[in-house]
Amino acid sequence: MSYYIIEGGIPLKGSIHTQGAKNSAVHLIAASLLAKDEVTLENVPAIADVLKMIKILEKIGAKVAFDQQKHSLSIDSRGPVSPHIIDPIASELRASLSFLGALLARERETSILFPGGCNIGSRPVDFHLKGFSALGAETSLEHGLIQTKAARLTGKRIYLDYPSVGATINLTMVATLAKGETIIENVAEEPEIVDFCNFLKKMGAKIKGAGTKRLCIKGVPYLHGTKHRVIPDRIEGGTYLIAGAITGGELTVKEIVPQHLEPLLVKLQEAGAQITQAKDRVSIKAKGRLKAVNIKTMPYPGFPTDLQNQMIPLLALAEGTSVITETVFENRFLSVSELRKMGANIRIEGQSVVIQGVESLTGAKLASPNLRGGASLVLAALAANGSSEVHDIEHVERGYEKMEEKLRGSGAKIRRI
Ligand code: UD1
Repeated sequence: MSYYIIEGGIPLKGSIHTQGAKNSAVHLIAASLLAKDEVTLENVPAIADVLKMIKILEKIGAKVAFDQQKHSLSIDSRGPVSPHIIDPIASELRASLSFLGALLARERETSILFPGGCNIGSRPVDFHLKGFSALGAETSLEHGLIQTKAARLTGKRIYLDYPSVGATINLTMVATLAKGETIIENVAEEPEIVDFCNFLKKMGAKIKGAGTKRLCIKGVPYLHGTKHRVIPDRIEGGTYLIAGAITGGELTVKEIVPQHLEPLLVKLQEAGAQITQAKDRVSIKAKGRLKAVNIKTMPYPGFPTDLQNQMIPLLALAEGTSVITETVFENRFLSVSELRKMGANIRIEGQSVVIQGVESLTGAKLASPNLRGGASLVLAALAANGSSEVHDIEHVERGYEKMEEKLRGSGAKIRRI
């Protein structure tokens, strides 16, 4: 098993380029099955979750070529594909759920093992199945297998109980190839949803309202191939900005959309970091001790749940008491017990953590509990006195391409063993 050794206490300096967004790329890969001819995706991150999505595509019969150096991915699913995904790899990531919508739309039936992903809560699929039923599919979930089947798919009015990212994506795919018009209310507004809809529109889909709470989709008989560049990864970029701040450094993160990171940038400024923005980059400078801030996670444009874990070590070193409240997932503070080993003063109270800032953290041997929790431990180790080991980094590598190389390029002492 691989792990990182990190010597802490070095301010990061320089610049880091972001990868393409994990949470866009994985869904675009599934959606490429809707095209009648070849799709090319650019700026695709070479991360474990993407490689798994590609493996699933290959297993069901698509032809895939991924140039990991150029981050260019071609997908040709013109031939027959199997709508049944019973390979255990499907249960290793949440994004495999997007094959459900793609294959139901394309093949009118599908079965897939219940998806996995980070251990951050129960992560049900009821919104997905309820939406498929509204569009005319029969659905079942038994013995860990999700099955759907539809003689015909017809547009409907759907209201989501919560602006779920995955359900918005799945229902948009099915509505795109259904007959007639579908209106989905209370959809997710995340930048990855906008990227997803832009991709489908390039393939010939008729979608209005991406980036608002209401999507209006007019069904079309088929979609054609296209070329599309994945948007920058706001969560990866945000993680590196926090790395700059927590080490008291001066770091520029390039190739990001600053607007996508507004809730994070506001909080970092409130904590005392200096932020400067240009069209496609953000620079951060942090001198002296930062101040406590309170954070509540929310669907976009609220503070992203995928960045709250990374803020915990930063606030663990800030002056004063901070409270982070998690409202999206029910079990997302698993890195806290590891941070306590470093001297952090944090207590969990229901859906919140109360963080009493301490002057310093000390290096320790740590285990990543999940993707963003692992990233938060790397950040803590970069700021701690002495040396740390961060184990179980396969979680981190699900979402961050070459994290250690990028950090090393900005002066961090980090090695991957
Ligand atoms: C996606 C992201 C994940 C991010 C999350 C919220 C991917 C691969 N993952 O996950 O990184 O943290 O959005 O921004 O894109 N829910 C239900 N029933 C459902 C579906 C969801 O109750 O059928 C609940 C979930 O348990 C959760 C909330 O809705 O409490 C939001 O989940 P959702 O937006 O669907 O997250 P994912 O698409 O799984």
